[in-house]
Amino acid sequence: MTPTQIRHFLRDDDLSHAEQRHVLDLAAALKMDRYADRSLAGPQAVAVIFDKPTLRTQVSFTTGVAELGGYPLMVDGSLAQIGERESVADTARILGRQVSAIVWRTYAQSRLTEMAEAAGVPVVNALTDDFHPCQILADLLTIAEHRGDLPGRTLAYLGDGGNNMAHSYLLGGAVAGLHVRVAAPKGHQPSAAVLADADALARAHGGSVTVTDSPQDAVAGADAVATDTWVSMGMEAEKATRRGDQSPFAPYQVTQALMDLADPEAIFLHCLPAYRGHEVTAEVIDGPRSVVWDEAENRLHVQKALLSFLLDQAGRARAGGPGRG
Ligand code: NVA
Repeated sequence: MTPTQIRHFLRDDDLSHAEQRHVLDLAAALKMDRYADRSLAGPQAVAVIFDKPTLRTQVSFTTGVAELGGYPLMVDGSLAQIGERESVADTARILGRQVSAIVWRTYAQSRLTEMAEAAGVPVVNALTDDFHPCQILADLLTIAEHRGDLPGRTLAYLGDGGNNMAHSYLLGGAVAGLHVRVAAPKGHQPSAAVLADADALARAHGGSVTVTDSPQDAVAGADAVATDTWVSMGMEAEKATRRGDQSPFAPYQVTQALMDLADPEAIFLHCLPAYRGHEVTAEVIDGPRSVVWDEAENRLHVQKALLSFLLDQAGRARAGGPGRG
């Protein structure tokens, strides 16, 4: 078996449209019956590694691994010092001999890719500087629960258009067949490469992607409105300029006035942690259209479904079968 036969989830478009739908359907089923899937019975260990702060991701992955019958092996990135004490590839080889999957939150996307190339077990992106694909699966499940079938729905994301959430909304939303609109100030708009990939995927699945600097245009008639912190992890040095009086993001704060331009049934999404008074007003995030607590819970269900899918694929690869991909 070569490592390339193993499926990973490093960015949102690592799942096809059909696979994404399968994972979301399985997540909905596991939400109804939490212990129905025992993919990690043994218990098999899953390494859950954090190089950046966490709450939701740590809790949802460790709980999810336990609910799948496995053992969540927490690895503190500051102790492991991956890439410093030991290369990423050597770490991958060591972990891959002992655990069934690796979940990693780190900085550069290239570190995750390097881990996946050498691990021999599925590697899952638990957030990098570039993408946060597990969060988008949770958001898609939440949109489907509150607004119905995903293809053709409109999602507007306001704020930092160059961050991991914006990129993952573009890619993951495009795979789902959504119309994704990103409103961000010039200089903070999505990467051209991600936008091009998202555009091709959206066209293939009946959706579209749009980037604008007008928050009003982005939210007009939208089914879901989303935002994220203006100061992502690792950007703390820019906090004063990103959040201060002259913040370029100020016009993109999600207010009730902006929500009033969206569909009357529009939901509000935020990956959390949220900073009330900055990217969103308290009135919106604590108001009747906000579904952020459902969204946070859904991390658990989608990640369990994702792990189940990837472990099933790995089993097929080891057995020499064709798998789904
Ligand atoms: N863009 C944010 C997401 C937090 C879940 C960050 O990277 O800090």
